[in-house]
Amino acid sequence: MEQYAIKGGNPLVGEVEIGGAKNAALPVLAASIMTDDTVYIDNLPDVRDINVMLQAMQEIGVMVRRDNRHKVTVNASNVTNLVVENEYIKKIRASYYLIGALLGKYKKAEVTLPGGCDIGCRAIDQHIKGFKALGAEVTIEHGLIKTKADKLRGAHIFMDVVSVGATINVMMAATMAEGTTIIENAAKEPHVVDLANFLNSMGASIKGAGTDVIRIKGVSSLHGTDYTIIPDQIEAGTFMLAAAVTKGDVTVKNIIPKHLESITAKLLEIGCEVEEADDCIRVVASKPLMHTQVKTQPYPGFPTDMQPQITVALALSQGTSIVTESIFENRYRYVDELTRMGANIKVEGNTAIINGVEKYTGATISVPDLRAGAALVMAALAAEGCTVVEDIYYIQRGYEDFHLKLHNLGAMIELVESERELQKFKLKIG
Ligand code: UD1
Repeated sequence: MEQYAIKGGNPLVGEVEIGGAKNAALPVLAASIMTDDTVYIDNLPDVRDINVMLQAMQEIGVMVRRDNRHKVTVNASNVTNLVVENEYIKKIRASYYLIGALLGKYKKAEVTLPGGCDIGCRAIDQHIKGFKALGAEVTIEHGLIKTKADKLRGAHIFMDVVSVGATINVMMAATMAEGTTIIENAAKEPHVVDLANFLNSMGASIKGAGTDVIRIKGVSSLHGTDYTIIPDQIEAGTFMLAAAVTKGDVTVKNIIPKHLESITAKLLEIGCEVEEADDCIRVVASKPLMHTQVKTQPYPGFPTDMQPQITVALALSQGTSIVTESIFENRYRYVDELTRMGANIKVEGNTAIINGVEKYTGATISVPDLRAGAALVMAALAAEGCTVVEDIYYIQRGYEDFHLKLHNLGAMIELVESERELQKFKLKIG
């Protein structure tokens, strides 16, 4: 079983190259099957969720060629199967993007109900409402979502909650509906905009992505394209917070600073220096960190996917901080592990009351979900002594070469696969 062995105490210093956004790449891959032409997609992160999505596409007859680690060629002219039913596809939440894509193009799809990280109840009622508004029948049977329509018609849809997944799914289906669809109360995340840009590059007519109201004029067919995925906002944010937690000096490169504004603002509030350039941000943490308040919100608010990372920083900051999680109700499962490392955090409902401590101490900890996993690694990098991080496959779902990038910034971290390797690491660090 793979684990990370970490000896804390080294400030992270240097430059780190940020990869393509997993949460943009997943819907872009799904949407790539909406044309019979060849599609080239670059800047894909080489992470488990992406590889599962590529495998699911191949299983329904899509030709996928990996041109290099980050570039694929996709051709979906021979899709033979509109049923995506696999054990592995259940493991990724974004498998449901294949519903919107297949429904849009073939007017039929049957996809295993999604899993993903266990961070709270993850309803799909808004996806279903959107598909039905476009004229599709939707049923859930034997663990599958089944949708079909004689034809899809544009509709005026008001989302009851701001949902990234529902906005993306309905946008894909509506792209190939007859007439105009208006999605109100749409999600504004950078990956929603990236998918709209991708679909537009294939001949779709989508306006307003990045605002509350998205207007989609349906088209009867889409064509091939050559597209580069945007940089990963959350990977970048994670390394920015890692600089703060380890009292380091890190430049995150190949990013879009605008996407990171809510994170930059919090880093400034807690006492870090932040320097922005066109496509990079430098974070320097030379002073003691200070307390603050954070509430997670849909974009452009502070992202829920950065909540564990900022909590790890605030638990080492002077004074009492309050973090409010307003998107997912079960996103504090990592707090027990952090408490075992010395944090003083009390969770009441969706609020964490954090009394800053001087230091963490190393322990054997286990990862409950993807982003919490990255946050616990950050805590270990700042901790006194050695930490063993178990269940790291969650981290590998969304971070490419996480330990190698941290190692290049000066962290003492190794991926170990056996007790023997762990003992060797412990001997090496003394
Ligand atoms: C996506 C991201 C995830 C991120 C989340 C919020 C991907 C693959 N995942 O997840 O990393 O944490 O956005 O930024 O991109 N909801 C409903 N009904 C629905 C759909 C959602 O009530 O039909 C609720 C959810 O329970 C949640 C909130 O809306 O409370 C936001 O969920 P949503 O934006 O849909 O998250 P995901 O797309 O699943």
